[in-house]
Amino acid sequence: MARLWLTFGVLTPLLAVFVAQRTSLAENYWPWFLATHPDSARASEQQLGGTDHGPDLTQELGHVSSPPIIAHHASEIQGDLPEDAFVRRIVAVGDLHGDFGNARKVLEMSGVANKEGKWIGGVDFFVQTGDIIDRGDDTIELFSYMDKLRDQALAVGGMVLSHLGNHEWMNVIGIYVYPSEIKTFGSIEARVKMITTGQIGKSWAANYTTTSRLPLHPSLGPPNTDYDPSISSPISHSALSFVHGGLAPTYLDLTPYPSKINEISSSLLRKLQTREFPPVHPPNPYPGLPKTATNDERGLYGGDGPLWYRGWALDQDEGVEGGLCDRADSVMEKIGVRRLIVGHTPDFEKIVSRCGGKVIIIDTGISHAYGGVLSALSITYSLTPLPPSGDGEKRWKERETVVAVYPDGQDLLADDVREITGNL
Ligand SMILES: *[C@@H]1O[C@H](CO)[C@@H](O)[C@H](O)[C@H]1NC(C)=O
Repeated sequence: MARLWLTFGVLTPLLAVFVAQRTSLAENYWPWFLATHPDSARASEQQLGGTDHGPDLTQELGHVSSPPIIAHHASEIQGDLPEDAFVRRIVAVGDLHGDFGNARKVLEMSGVANKEGKWIGGVDFFVQTGDIIDRGDDTIELFSYMDKLRDQALAVGGMVLSHLGNHEWMNVIGIYVYPSEIKTFGSIEARVKMITTGQIGKSWAANYTTTSRLPLHPSLGPPNTDYDPSISSPISHSALSFVHGGLAPTYLDLTPYPSKINEISSSLLRKLQTREFPPVHPPNPYPGLPKTATNDERGLYGGDGPLWYRGWALDQDEGVEGGLCDRADSVMEKIGVRRLIVGHTPDFEKIVSRCGGKVIIIDTGISHAYGGVLSALSITYSLTPLPPSGDGEKRWKERETVVAVYPDGQDLLADDVREITGNL
């Protein structure tokens, strides 16, 4: 006990500093760990600063303010389901930033892969929300591992959904602020080649998107089937949205979702990968997007576009009428999903769940470059037939259990149960 108080006594002042930093986030202080959009005024100073990350208070504080761990497993919560129940399991992981070892640990603890890193079919879908590149040392290894995992998953009916984060885009634009990557790739020229015409570039073009709509039930079609607002069904919104930064309510290209964003993304990526590569920044000035980029393409990479938006993580009006949760509802209504799942804005202690699990921020600074907590988001969906109602209508129990998985325990973030009727 005495030791506990001593520890607490030492850490309290540090905690106070940390809390003070957090509160001022909304004001002027921009913490070292939030990259800034190259068009913003802060960018040049931050990005030229490169690796000047300032003091890392979070490592010491990780355990002081963590909520108590509630041991739960999504499968245990749902119990034994009847044989005619449909079940779909999904694991999503946020920013990995070049840390192969931690990525492997996260996939193992969440049942995606085994100790050897092989897909084990513990889930139906594995989703990564972007930012595999920059900050760490194993970028090439990580991208090629994702490609292998994608093949292994497909071979047994599983699927890997990969996304481009703002850092993948920064690299293909020519913003090379992280010196560790020059070492990883060997030279600037090798890096340019690898992410344009080389295997990583080809993989981005073929197997990475900027956003995904992942249906929870197969009757909605395969992943990235557009939401069709003309079809009314009790499970029309039984789907998840994934994107690196966030889909701002004001973003102009939300619909048709997700094809509009992903078409803009493919077209911009093609322009960037085939242009004469500009002199990289730094030391040269920020090259910007190609002159031929359309307004939609500029919007995609804009400060409030899907790659950079931080509103879902930072806006402070959760619980206020017309606030964050109402905005989330209106975006989800439009794009046909039940949850908005994003990375990009780290919390080093936990996966952040807002609005009862409708908005989930899964970047916990997994890379050792940050020293945050290892984490994965696990979602179990089930649809179980119930005895028909009095007038013979089919009835179902639909359930989504959302759990944050950490090395030393799990937190239940949401367990939503609905009864629905109709022919599905
Ligand atoms: C894209 O993924 C598929 C399935 O895993 C694979 O066969 C194909 O080679 C990948 N394409 C590239 C360019 O990596």
